[in-house]
Amino acid sequence: MDFFRYHDGRLHCEDVPLDAIADAAGTPAFVYSQRTFEHHYDALVGAFAELEPTICFSIKSCGNVHILRHLVARGAGMDVVSGGELFRAQHAGADMARVVYAGVGKTDQEIRDALEARIGWFNIESEAEFENIARLAGEMGAHAQAALRVNPDVDPQTHAKTSTGQKETKFGVDIERARQFFETYGKNPHLTLNALHLHIGSPIYQTEPYEHAIGKAITLIQQLTARGHAIEALDIGGGFGADYEANQSPSYDDYAQRIVPLLQPFKRNGGRVILEPGRTIAANAGVLVTEVLYIKQGGSRTFVIVDTGMHHLLRPALYDAFHFIWPTHVDPALVPEQRTATPDLPGLVTCDVVGPICETGDTLARERAQRPVERGQRLAIFAAGAYGMAMASNYNAMPRPAEILVDGDEAQVIRRRETYADLIARDLPLG
Ligand code: LLP
Repeated sequence: MDFFRYHDGRLHCEDVPLDAIADAAGTPAFVYSQRTFEHHYDALVGAFAELEPTICFSIKSCGNVHILRHLVARGAGMDVVSGGELFRAQHAGADMARVVYAGVGKTDQEIRDALEARIGWFNIESEAEFENIARLAGEMGAHAQAALRVNPDVDPQTHAKTSTGQKETKFGVDIERARQFFETYGKNPHLTLNALHLHIGSPIYQTEPYEHAIGKAITLIQQLTARGHAIEALDIGGGFGADYEANQSPSYDDYAQRIVPLLQPFKRNGGRVILEPGRTIAANAGVLVTEVLYIKQGGSRTFVIVDTGMHHLLRPALYDAFHFIWPTHVDPALVPEQRTATPDLPGLVTCDVVGPICETGDTLARERAQRPVERGQRLAIFAAGAYGMAMASNYNAMPRPAEILVDGDEAQVIRRRETYADLIARDLPLG
């Protein structure tokens, strides 16, 4: 669900034609729909309302402070994984008590900053990390809360590079070790261990992995409570799906119907439920607008070469991820009803959409049925709002795109396009 629609063959973000944005801001450009962010955030809150969860938006998916600020205004907390993300959260005015901080490699400086900021919970990934945070808190005379990240050892049935909740992983500790963890560290005066954290991978298009994982966490909570450890919060992580293809993801109600009943008893006993959604809120809220540079034949294949690529949207190269691509301006009869890999339209040709980067992997779409396009035409790469700009780089010394946020009929540049001067701004001056 999003607010990118064709009107008379022109793709609009809310009420603004994407071509008008590209005329003014150039390409490539990430264009976001504020209404889509808000719609997803509100729908998620609504579906899980019975649990009154704390929703900590996962900054790693989409970190522009303008976008974060709008989510904060709606009551969102933040899920951060670095000092840099904490800085972004602070800059966006997030309530620090609603910030959770995960990540296997927190440095002393990052930990001190988070202690000083008085964040809600440190999500702890190992014994060594607990000891280090407790030591630093002690030195600073500070106090913080900790959630232990446990691996429920369920298969999230997603890409190997984004599966995290199994036993053999660098994240968290397994459930058997969790019991010992609480025995050893459960009484620390500087770091109160009073919560559990799960994150089993993403995206997860079935509800079963959540059901299994939460079921195991609830059993663990009962055992820990029986041993005198008060568990005040359960953070079930992120990973809810997005519609890269039409209707690919379960709805929030589908997730909630299975998850809410499992957590109701915990909530009734005064427990707080935390969610860490990223892509499900952000992915469909953004597109990457690009321009066709050249068309080239390579043997039997047709390559559409565009002015963006893996340096701005890494997901296809990294995970073979599908992103629907369609011109921003087409004959109204040639607008697909649904964004799928095989649109049911006449006159399509099979082509590869590729970027300018000197790597064979720089492919945005492989052997895809597309409208024939020409040099100078613009294409929209859909569902690029999450892990698009967030994972963009300057590889091949390419400046990163502008970011534009649309609200109704207004489009605002929320990050200017990088310049060549930006590329060398941090190289120290020559001799
Ligand atoms: N919480 C934790 C602890 C996480 O590690 C992640 C994502 C999330 C929440 C948010 O997951 P989400 O709701 O956005 O699925 N770059 C990849 C995905 C890697 C996700 C890493 N962790 C992508 O482009 O699909």
